[in-house]
Amino acid sequence: MIRYPVAEPDVGAEEEKNVVDCIRSNWISSLGSYIASFESGFASRVERKHAVSTSSGTAALHLALLGLDIGPGDEVLVPALSFVACANTVLYVGAKPVFVDADPKHWNMDPQQAARKVTAKTKAMLVVHLYGHPAPMEPLLALAKEHGLRVIEDCAEAHGARYRGKVVGGFGDVSVFSFYGNKIMTTGEGGMLLFDEDALLAKTRLLRDHHMDPQRRYYHKALGYNYRMTNLQAAIGMAQLEKLSRLLTKKSTIASWYAKQLHKLEAFDLPPAEEWAKPVCWLYSPLLKENVVKRISREKFCDKLNKLGIDTRPFFVPLNQLPYMDADRNAAPVAEDLSKRGLNLPSSSKLLEADVNYIVDSIKKVLGP
Ligand SMILES: Cc1ncc(COP(=O)(O)O)c(C=O)c1O
Repeated sequence: MIRYPVAEPDVGAEEEKNVVDCIRSNWISSLGSYIASFESGFASRVERKHAVSTSSGTAALHLALLGLDIGPGDEVLVPALSFVACANTVLYVGAKPVFVDADPKHWNMDPQQAARKVTAKTKAMLVVHLYGHPAPMEPLLALAKEHGLRVIEDCAEAHGARYRGKVVGGFGDVSVFSFYGNKIMTTGEGGMLLFDEDALLAKTRLLRDHHMDPQRRYYHKALGYNYRMTNLQAAIGMAQLEKLSRLLTKKSTIASWYAKQLHKLEAFDLPPAEEWAKPVCWLYSPLLKENVVKRISREKFCDKLNKLGIDTRPFFVPLNQLPYMDADRNAAPVAEDLSKRGLNLPSSSKLLEADVNYIVDSIKKVLGP
């Protein structure tokens, strides 16, 4: 039986109070006061002018691409090492994801590799702050400026992380967050789209609501979607937002417990922290050292931990290697190496130091003498 899940929601009395309030008010669908408060509260947290809540992070990414008019014939730079939603949403709009290898120093999109992938068709770059570590925004934004590319910032795994002191989500033309149940803060399922351009507000709100004409009910000038967040989700989101700082502090303490102990084992490359970055701990994500994976594969290592009640996740499979992607399977050797050696350890904000000690003792057992 799994005793330590990789992640779990940290919800309690505050969320319950807001949800009960919602139920008593009968505003449980996608109208209600929590939606507007959650949008404005989140926008000020990320220092953006506008926020549009959505039913998921994937929906927010899709709206971001549609909002920026990315479509058939366009190419979008996407990190090879990321969650599949980043490439799928580019495909949803009929554009082509062009995969960029990772930088081994911080695991995010390598600006030099990105520069090599720019063509006359490149319209945008989708920058992901992977596993809580900010991407190198200065060189990426400079590249985007040089080629007139739009920038979508995917902060699904990095709520609260900072690049040179500025919180992520404030750099791209549009930024996107996820509030899925395993994220740093959650609404069960949910997402948010943030930007400063006024014109994008009406446009993305229309797209989120089947493009229904606000002046004429059931008249739809163009194709739209149902990507609305519910008031119930936003009620949970408001309570989570209020405790976000506490969740981040606790998770960073958990990361420091792991780092202190795992460092001594000499079996791991610990998660990066570049001098310009203030990463957050979404999931504590070390790499098994090369000499260790020669002895025991990451799969076997994780299987053995699983038998001791410890849940893990392997790193993402490089997106250029997924069978339906039109991509060179060998185009991202760094992402491939990280993907083979990386794993996410239990990172619930509810973990105590004794739990981390148990997990590290189990790791020692699995590694053997
Ligand atoms: C980097 C990244 N982008 C997008 C998403 C999609 O978010 P959602 O699961 O809320 O659709 C996720 C994770 O779930 C993610 O990790």
